[in-house]
Formats: sequence, C-alpha cells, structure tokens
Amino acid sequence: MTQTLLRGKDWIETPDWTKEELETVLDCSSELKRMFALGMPHRLLQDKTLFMMFFEQSTRTRNSTEAGMTQLGGHAHDLTPDKMQISHGETPKDTGKVLSRYGHGIAIRNCFYGMGNKYIREVAEHATIPIVNLQCDVDHPCQAIADLMTVREKFGTNSKGLKMTVAWTYAPSYARPLSVPQGLAWLMPRFGIDLTIAYPKEFYLMPHTMEAARKFAAESGSTVKVVHDMDEAFRGADVVYPKSWGCHQYLFDQGVPEDQKKPQGMALLNKYKDWICDERRMALAAKHAVYMHPLPADRGSEVTDAVIDGPQSIVFDEAENRLHTVKAIMALTMGGRP
Ligand code: CP
Repeated sequence: MTQTLLRGKDWIETPDWTKEELETVLDCSSELKRMFALGMPHRLLQDKTLFMMFFEQSTRTRNSTEAGMTQLGGHAHDLTPDKMQISHGETPKDTGKVLSRYGHGIAIRNCFYGMGNKYIREVAEHATIPIVNLQCDVDHPCQAIADLMTVREKFGTNSKGLKMTVAWTYAPSYARPLSVPQGLAWLMPRFGIDLTIAYPKEFYLMPHTMEAARKFAAESGSTVKVVHDMDEAFRGADVVYPKSWGCHQYLFDQGVPEDQKKPQGMALLNKYKDWICDERRMALAAKHAVYMHPLPADRGSEVTDAVIDGPQSIVFDEAENRLHTVKAIMALTMGGRP
C-alpha cells in the first residue's frame, strides 16, 4: 500500500486515481474480504450515511453498496429520482449541496448517454462530501476495480502480459451502456494486461476513452487492439469477457433523431445474433481461460448456459468482489485517516 490519504476523494473515473491509489483500494478490498470471511466486525463507517441515487435499475451495485454500508457500521439511503425533487427538476448543484449537509457520501448511477457523467461531475463540483460513481455513460469504475481484483485472484498480482478479450455480444433485452468495456479499457492496460476489444463495426466506443486506453497501454508497456471478429479475439486469451453494449456512439455520430435511436439501434443489434459466447468459442481461448461477465447476462443470447454455468466461469466470484471493493472505496473516501 503506497497511498493512504484518500479521505474526501471522489470515485468517478479510474483515471482520476493514480496507480498507487488503486493499489491501496485493491489491498483494502482483500483485507475487508478476509475480515468478512472470518466474521470479524469492521465498523469503519460507524453512524455514517451514504445517499445512493439510482436513475436506473440495479441488483449487484445497489445491494453490494447498501450491504457494504451496513457491514461498515453505517447506513445507505436507497433513492430514485421519483422519490426526490429531481423529478420536479431540482438541479444537481442543489441536490449535492443539500445532501452534503446531512451525510457523508453520495453515490450515483446515471447512465443516460451524454448526460450521466456530466450529472455526476456537477453534483461533485458542489458537494462537500465524496461522490461515488455507481455507473455512468462513460465509466463503471466499481465494476472495473472488482474485475481487476478477480483477475488478480485467479492469475496473481503480476498481470503483465496477461491476455484479456472484451467482446461485444448480442443481447436483445435492452441496449446497455458503453461504460463496462470503456472502464475495462481504462483500467486493465494500466496493470500491464494486453487487451483485445472485439465488436461489430457499428458498436465502437467513445473515441476519448480509446485514446486514453492506448496512452495507458503505452505507459505500462501493454497493448490495446481492436478487431471485428469474435473468433480471432478469443484465440489464446487468458480471460474472456464477452458482454453486450449498445451502438450509442454510432447513432450519435450519424445524427439519428432521438425517436429513431431505439428502432435503429435494435435493428443493428439483430444483425449480429451470432456474437455469442459458446463452448466452441471457449475452446479457442487458452485451456486455463476464465469466463467473466459483470451480469446481468442475457442467457442464450450473450452466452450459453454451458459456459456461464461451466467450470471456466468465475462470474459469481466477480459479483462477490463488487462488495469488497465498494466497501474499500467507501471506507477510504468517507472514513480513512484524518
Ligand atoms: N454489474 C452491475 O453493475 O450489475 P447491476 O446493474 O445489477 O448493478
């Protein structure tokens, strides 16, 4: 652990944190996981309050964060815009200022394309307590750090040269944000992981996130590669992370009107139904390869049951690590050393 002064720091995008600060989060996550396993009390945020604002649905993020606050001795308010005056237009500025008078942290999920990150940053600008990004349109830092912890648990802390593939998959239920693949693209290359990102040509990521990913890779001596063939991306990979996302940036770049985005986006999705993670594709990866997914997964579209329930799948270890990592983030930023 090399950085200990994290009290009051916002957790919005992982590039806002140095590699040393991220190592501290990972160290503390492992320590909190050990204490959780032993049943040891760790009331590091006794009597503190976190306000969780969810603009979208959530199972893992909501419950790991709320359970995490309870385990740390504090309490989390589970809020949605309809429960707040946000639904009547109260500004992010006023919301941030008021909640700062009542508690010790504000956590927000807002994935609206082109808006979520801006909203969170505006609350952060005016709040006087730390802000935790529970997923926006740009990054899902709580997921990415839990994924990194999981990869290091399976392959060791020296991840230099590890080959990880993030591949787009077909999922008809809804158009997911870009923030999971972008979050992985930002974080994994900083830790020496060679990243391959595969997607059909319309499903590209925000250009600034890819530029930053390439810069991080150059700094750490790792690589970031983009391909448009799922089989090619799987060949020889140590970690495969196939998950769906929408063609939001493509529709934005094409100037598609708002009312046309959903039908056009769904029509594009339907062109690529063969982008699924099945046993044939898993056999292309390294023998020891692991299968990851942040969940929820569209079973039968993104992945077959045989893979997600099979011996290479580590999705539930990955989901569990959401708890330990968010606890570390909250304990360090809302508590920590004075
Ligand atoms: N992975 C993830 O963020 O899951 P939820 O949408 O259920 O929070």
